[in-house]
Amino acid sequence: MKIGMDKIGFYTPHLYIDMNKLALARNVKPEKLTIGIGQEKMAVPPITQDTVTLAANAALEILDEDDKEKIDFVIFATESGIDFSKAAAIYVHHLLGLNPNARSIEVKEACYGATAAVQIAKGHIALNPESKVLVLGSDISRYGLNSPGEATQGAGAVAIVMSVNPRILTIEGPSVYHTEDVMDFWRPLYSDTAFVQGKYSVELYIAFFQNVWKQYKDRTGLELKDFEAICFHLPYTKLGLKALRTVIDEGMDEVQKRLLANFEISRRYNKVVGNIYTGSLYLSLLSLLELNTDIEPGSRIGLFSYGSGAVGEFFPCIVQPQYREALYKAQHAKLLSERREISISEYEEIFQTTSLAEVPSARFPIEKDPAAICLAGVNEHKREYVNKVN
Ligand code: CAA
Repeated sequence: MKIGMDKIGFYTPHLYIDMNKLALARNVKPEKLTIGIGQEKMAVPPITQDTVTLAANAALEILDEDDKEKIDFVIFATESGIDFSKAAAIYVHHLLGLNPNARSIEVKEACYGATAAVQIAKGHIALNPESKVLVLGSDISRYGLNSPGEATQGAGAVAIVMSVNPRILTIEGPSVYHTEDVMDFWRPLYSDTAFVQGKYSVELYIAFFQNVWKQYKDRTGLELKDFEAICFHLPYTKLGLKALRTVIDEGMDEVQKRLLANFEISRRYNKVVGNIYTGSLYLSLLSLLELNTDIEPGSRIGLFSYGSGAVGEFFPCIVQPQYREALYKAQHAKLLSERREISISEYEEIFQTTSLAEVPSARFPIEKDPAAICLAGVNEHKREYVNKVN
């Protein structure tokens, strides 16, 4: 049975900053951020966007009536959720008007969560071939103003409809994975910004990639030449390149050229959005599929997922014949081109007023946010959302 991704939606807030200007404000060379880190722009979420609205907006553009009827499982992956108890999936389920006879849950393992969700969805569909599953990966990455991780923040969500006979990609086996109890990046319950051992996290990310890539080769006998492209979780886009470079010599010249060229295409969206944690790998996949129109159906694409703490996984996908028609390329180009640049001082002000710290009651200026689905306010500790399209 063929199971995989039938539709992929994406959303990022309408505000961003230019990394050259952030570099000037922080007194570092712009090339450190644009080349050394590999980021050009960074999405900034206004107070009217949280992980629920980002995910709901990503899903809104892709769901039709058949999806709404057949989706019987919503899996929301996040590491910047809004509640320790209630699943963010339930808010999205309601905002999108999905069939009430559905399961809705939230899953967590840092940036790896969306990959766990994709694999859980695959298992669910294998047992229930008539069902569709909505996988959401939505996050706001926050390290703090003037912190070492500041240039690797961002905000956005991906929404994936999974089904049998998918039009974009089938998820193949074997999937190989690795877990180790390490403290490279974490966010204790009392903090709204992440704690990180930056250099250590980079070492672990690369070591996990090498581990799962070796496991994969040993299990399958496949090599770099068998892949059209490898997409990476991209906390900042230089990191995927660093990991790829550690194995690239395994391929002949032509293979190296192809993988490096496709890597460049796979990081274009991430370069102008920033780190979206759970959705980051799937944003990179979207960048590759939407911006490289030459990828042939039947091509194999490897996906490397990494979640600090830490879990890593590598798995292959096969591109399907109708993938080009199933993508939302024009909508994503419009979404990115219609964003508005804000100054570094505006970003700093927004950062300080959008903490996850307690806000018992408040109203927010949804008229300033072009998104269809917004956070309108908080009333007696309950978040209130609006869908302006309804
Ligand atoms: N021109 C070009 N390149 C320059 C430069 C210049 N003028 N100045 C510096 N650089 C390069 C450096 O050589 C370096 O490149 P290499 O890594 O290839 O050597 C790069 O810019 C970064 O420089 P530093 O290492 O000095 O940067 P830093 O000390 O500011 O820290 C960081 C970088 C550790 C990634 C930091 O941004 C951070 O802590 N980020 C958050 C953690 C993170 O993203 N970790 C990734 C793995 S964890 C994960 O994957 C989960 C997740 O999503 C968080």
